[in-house]
Amino acid sequence: MSDTKARLLVARKFPADVMARALADYDCIVNEADDNWTGADVIARAGDVDAILTSARTKYPAEVINGLPANVRMLATFSVGYEHIDLEAAKARGLVVSNTPDVLTEAVADVTILLLLAASRRAREGFEMLAGDKWLAVGGWKPTQNLGTGAQGKVLGILGMGRIGRAAAVRARAMGMEIHYHNRSRLAPDLEQGAVYHDTPQSLLKVSQFLSIHCESTPETHHLINAEGIALMPEGAIVVNTARGDIIDDDALIAALETGRLAAAGLDVFNGEPEIDKRYYTLKNAFILPHIGSATVETRNAMGFRALDNLDAFFKGEEPVDRLA
Ligand code: DGY
Repeated sequence: MSDTKARLLVARKFPADVMARALADYDCIVNEADDNWTGADVIARAGDVDAILTSARTKYPAEVINGLPANVRMLATFSVGYEHIDLEAAKARGLVVSNTPDVLTEAVADVTILLLLAASRRAREGFEMLAGDKWLAVGGWKPTQNLGTGAQGKVLGILGMGRIGRAAAVRARAMGMEIHYHNRSRLAPDLEQGAVYHDTPQSLLKVSQFLSIHCESTPETHHLINAEGIALMPEGAIVVNTARGDIIDDDALIAALETGRLAAAGLDVFNGEPEIDKRYYTLKNAFILPHIGSATVETRNAMGFRALDNLDAFFKGEEPVDRLA
């Protein structure tokens, strides 16, 4: 990089080590309040910066991209997901965009298994049973108490067999699960690792005693898990989502959880989050987490460093390794 530091709009407060590196290497304007800036908030602050380091909480549709001042040349998102950025608009405007793949794969796969086990072993009900001495009141341990669904020998359907889907498969295989998957294209045998390929999501749903969602949020995957899809699944199946909330139709999932058509769900992501469907708050067979898939110190640091690596490359005149546009 040249002696003059590039100017960077830091649209969230990122972990301390990431902030330290950003502040050392760039001339930064930081969102000290760490609130959710809208596109208009970003545009209002971008008059004097060369690039923006953002999170997925700010949306960049075409009108925001086109509203950015001409001095903004790069947008680095601190996320693997990039559905919040209109890449076609960015390409048309000549705005370079990067994301942070790879570094969060293992952390999200860990949370996938956390949700799978918590949902199938009824962890929420167990936890709630202890509160207020309810367990004591029912006389403690019973042979028929809180019986869940075992994972061993069951089919785990993986919808979207990218990096995270494959890392979840590694873990699930170690638990004795049989892996099936649907992906836009079939994987090579060394990546498949014996997993059974289904050429349609519907074919996968029919065999999925457990389903784990790892596909991208696109117009094609919007509400892919809807009433028709759930009706295809085996009775008492379990659904896990660590990808994006809008892949699930909440009305259909909640109806199936209420009737027991689906035994349980483990969800880390939600439609319209953080304003989620409030019925999840009281559904005892929904184990819910607040989008913590990548939330470890190690992973969030790695995401920030990866975003800064991309910015550094751009300002050195090199190709950012995770360039999307
Ligand atoms: C990601 O990296 O896409 C996470 O879901 C955070 O937005």
